[in-house]
Amino acid sequence: EGDVFKYYADGEWKKSSSGKSVAIINPTTRKTQYKVQACTQEEVNKVMEIAKSAQKLWAKTPLWKRAELLHKAAAILKEHKAPIAECLVKEIAKPAKDAVTEVVRSGDLVSYCAEEGVRILGEGKFLVSDSFPGNERTKYCLTSKIPLGVVLAIPPFNYPVNLAVSKIAPALIAGNSLVLKPPTQGAVAALHMVHCFHLAGFPKGLISCVTGKGSEIGDFLTMHPGVNCISFTGGDTGIAISKKAGMIPLQMELGGKDACIVLEDADLDLVAANIIKGGFSYSGQRCTAVKVVLVMESVADTLVEKVKAKVAKLTVGPPENDCDITPVVSESSANFIEGLVMDAKQKGATFCQEYKREGNLIWPLLLDNVQPDMRIAWEEPFGPVLPVIRISSVEEGIHHCNASNFGLQGCVFTKDISKAILISDAMETGTVQINSAPARGPDHFPFQGLKDSGIGSQGITNSINMMTKREEKETLHR
Ligand code: G3P
Repeated sequence: EGDVFKYYADGEWKKSSSGKSVAIINPTTRKTQYKVQACTQEEVNKVMEIAKSAQKLWAKTPLWKRAELLHKAAAILKEHKAPIAECLVKEIAKPAKDAVTEVVRSGDLVSYCAEEGVRILGEGKFLVSDSFPGNERTKYCLTSKIPLGVVLAIPPFNYPVNLAVSKIAPALIAGNSLVLKPPTQGAVAALHMVHCFHLAGFPKGLISCVTGKGSEIGDFLTMHPGVNCISFTGGDTGIAISKKAGMIPLQMELGGKDACIVLEDADLDLVAANIIKGGFSYSGQRCTAVKVVLVMESVADTLVEKVKAKVAKLTVGPPENDCDITPVVSESSANFIEGLVMDAKQKGATFCQEYKREGNLIWPLLLDNVQPDMRIAWEEPFGPVLPVIRISSVEEGIHHCNASNFGLQGCVFTKDISKAILISDAMETGTVQINSAPARGPDHFPFQGLKDSGIGSQGITNSINMMTKREEKETLHR
C-alpha cells in the first residue's frame, strides 16, 4: 500500500520527478488497487531521445539475434502468466481464466512474430528495368525492408497485455524501438509484461513504458516529433490522434458495432451459442463483440427464446470466481451503459431480463424489438447489453450494418454458403465471419476496420510490414 509502481526507461525502473501518481481503481471493489507514476513531458522527451539512439544500434543487430531475444521474452512472459493474470483480474476485472489465456496468447504471439519476422525480413527483392516500356535491361534495383524508427504503442484497457505485445513484437523484430503508453486500467499488468522483456535482456532504452495522465502526456506523446509510427487500439481518442499526428504511418483499431445477421434457414442453436460468446464474453467489452443482432422476423421469437435461456445460465459476479459477467471497467462506463438502457426503455424496447446493476456490475441484458431511433441501435455499449432488431429482409439487415459509422467485423448465419458469401461481400466491414461470432485472430490473420473502426490492417504479418518501409537500397546501372 502506498507504493507507486515505477515506470521503465533506459533499462531501469524509475520514479517520476512529478512526485505525483495515478490511481488504478479496482472495478469490483471500486477502491484504489495500485498506483503508477504520473510521468512528465520532460520524462517523455528523455525517453524519446534514448529510444532514438537505442534504435540505431538495434537496427544493426542481426535479425536472428532479435528473434532470439523475442523468443526468450515470450518464454519468460508465459512463466509469469499467474502474477500478470492476477493484475488483469484486479485492474480490469477480466475473468480469472481469460486473464491467463490473454498472457499465454501474448507469449505465443511474440514467438510467432519472431518466426514470421525472420522469414519476411530475411527476403529482399531484385528488380530489372526492361519490364517497363521504353527500358532495356540496363538497370537493376535491390530492395530490402528497413525499420521506421521509434514506434509508439497505445493499447486499450481490455487487452492491456495482448494488444501491447501485438504492437511491441512486430516493432522490435523489424528493428524499431518501442515506447509504450499503457492504459491506466491495466498499467500494472503492462509494466509486469515489460519486466519480462527486461529480463530477456533487450538493450537499454529499446523499450520504454511511460505511465501517466492522458491530459498531461497523451497529446504530447502522439504529437512528439520523435515518434515515427503510432499503433493505437481504443475508442474515439484514435480519431483525435489521427487528426493531430504528423506525417507518419498510423495503425488504428477503434470501435465497432459488429452486426450479427441471422437468416431464416440458420441453425438457431449455433446462432444462440455464438451470440452468447460474441455478445457477452468479457461482459461485451471487446471491439469485436456482437453489438447488434439483425434477425429475420419469422425466426426471431425462437432465437430470442434460445438466447434468453442461455443468458439465464451466465454466472454474474467477481472476476476472481471466474464469473462470465464481471463488473465493467469503470463507473463512468457503467453509467454510459445505463444511459443507453434507459433510452431504449423510454422508447419502448422489450426487456428480456430485468435491468439490474450493483456498482459497476451490470447483469446481462437482451433488448428485443429495438428500433432505429434508439441510441443502442447505433452506439456501442461496451457492456453486457445486446440489442435485437427484427428485420423483414436481408437487404434491411445489410442496410443497417452499412449505415453504421463503424465497420470492424460482422457475422452472418445461414446454411446457404453462396448467400453467406454474397451477404458478407455486401457488408462494409473489415471482416465477416460466416456461421461464427466476430473475433480477432488467430493472430496471424489480417485484422482491420473500415470507416471509423480504423486505419490500416493488423495481424502479425501486416503489422511487421506496416512497421517497415521498403528501401530502394541501390540502383545499379550498366
Ligand atoms: O477489443 C479488442 C479487439 O481487438 C477484440 O479482440 O480477440 O476479443 O476478438 P478479440
